[in-house]
Amino acid sequence: MEPFDYHQSTKHSYFSIRTHPNRLDWDNQPSQFKSYPQHFKKIQLDYSNPNHRLLILSAGITAKKSYPGVEYYLRINPSAGALFPCEIYFQARNLDGFENGIYHFEIESNSVTLLQTISSDGIESYLGLEKQQEGFIFLFSSIYYRSSWKYKNRALRYCLLDTGHLLGCVEASCYLQDRAYQIQYNFDKKRLNSIFGFKKQEFFTAAIIIGNLTEEKSEPLSMQLDFVDGTNTFESNELIEFAYAQTLEQISCDKSYIMPHFSYNKTALEDTMVKRRSAREFFKRAISKVEFEAIMENLNAPIISDCDEEVSIYCVINRVQGMQLGLYLDKQYLKEGDFQSKAGYLCLEQELGHFSAVTFFLTSNARNYQALYQKAGIIGHRLYLAANYLGIGCSGIGAYYDDEVNEFLENNHKVLYALAIGN
Ligand SMILES: Cc1cc2nc3c(=O)[nH]c(=O)nc-3n(C[C@H](O)[C@H](O)[C@H](O)COP(=O)(O)O)c2cc1C
Repeated sequence: MEPFDYHQSTKHSYFSIRTHPNRLDWDNQPSQFKSYPQHFKKIQLDYSNPNHRLLILSAGITAKKSYPGVEYYLRINPSAGALFPCEIYFQARNLDGFENGIYHFEIESNSVTLLQTISSDGIESYLGLEKQQEGFIFLFSSIYYRSSWKYKNRALRYCLLDTGHLLGCVEASCYLQDRAYQIQYNFDKKRLNSIFGFKKQEFFTAAIIIGNLTEEKSEPLSMQLDFVDGTNTFESNELIEFAYAQTLEQISCDKSYIMPHFSYNKTALEDTMVKRRSAREFFKRAISKVEFEAIMENLNAPIISDCDEEVSIYCVINRVQGMQLGLYLDKQYLKEGDFQSKAGYLCLEQELGHFSAVTFFLTSNARNYQALYQKAGIIGHRLYLAANYLGIGCSGIGAYYDDEVNEFLENNHKVLYALAIGN
């Protein structure tokens, strides 16, 4: 028997979309915010403190939408269906504005909750570090039901993409503050899931280390948190839990230590980050070749991580002045043609894919599923920032006809993510 293949079993097709229409129980939508009980100490974040600002610029709320009877919040990071399944925890050691400790970022109130103070102990050992790490260690988790409530089995893909976007936000925040960082996918997630009391409802998928190693030995953390509900209406999904467990162990993988070099004006980039929104429609306006090339340079900059899986960037050029229409693999021209309606069709008939200047498909045939999917999210986030910085709209597109995209691209990779940019 073939081993279970989560990706294969969560493909969309023209047929699957029409035979399994999705009806949503709006009265039971899971909560999008997790909050620890009041007896924990909370610290209000202050934008003028650079350490606090790093957090706010990584996942904070930037807009509020009000409709009759409903209010909802949008954030620095985009999220599939605006469902925000991800949570951020972090360790702070010797940082102004924080006691040394383990924290949860309570996004709803722009505050952090001190879960446990630390001294010589900490989470370093679960990341394979013997010495104490001065600075931040961020841990990213997903409360998958917030997404599977709507997207069912496919939700693990969205959780990983959303985490990639958060990693992209932290990357940009570190760039603003000239901080060195490193993404780590391989750590003792199982043990940390248990220490944080997640049951099976929430699980860690990535970490970022921001700061420097000291000479002091780090002891394992003696913490055991009680479970805190992050949905209020949880329903388990065995396929997702199994797929997470099956993709936990990292198979040999190349590390990347090269710092990316971006050439943004930092004030303008911060403004772009705070104002970032997803494009909701395009008006068929072209972008220039220079703009396209500047965007591609940012996408192709190295990503520092302990598992740098290869992700291919296919571009359907629909409206770029000075470039021939057609399909490109990065800068390489693969086939000529006007594929705008085809690109829209492949994105589940979404007009964003059709009326864009460029529609992107990110694919990979690498093996480390959690790492490669999150990398696609990071590239997606770089695309949002690079495009918005130039005044060009961008939207992630998580829904596409997987196998038909493969036929069009003439490859047999896993199709990870589609995105569109334009005006
Ligand atoms: C992984 C991912 C997949 C997405 N897929 C779609 C999509 O298929 N169609 C769409 O219109 N928007 C899509 N979006 C955009 C979200 O709807 C948007 O991020 C969310 O509504 C929050 O709005 P904001 O990005 O303006 O803050 C996606 C975003 C992400 C991160």
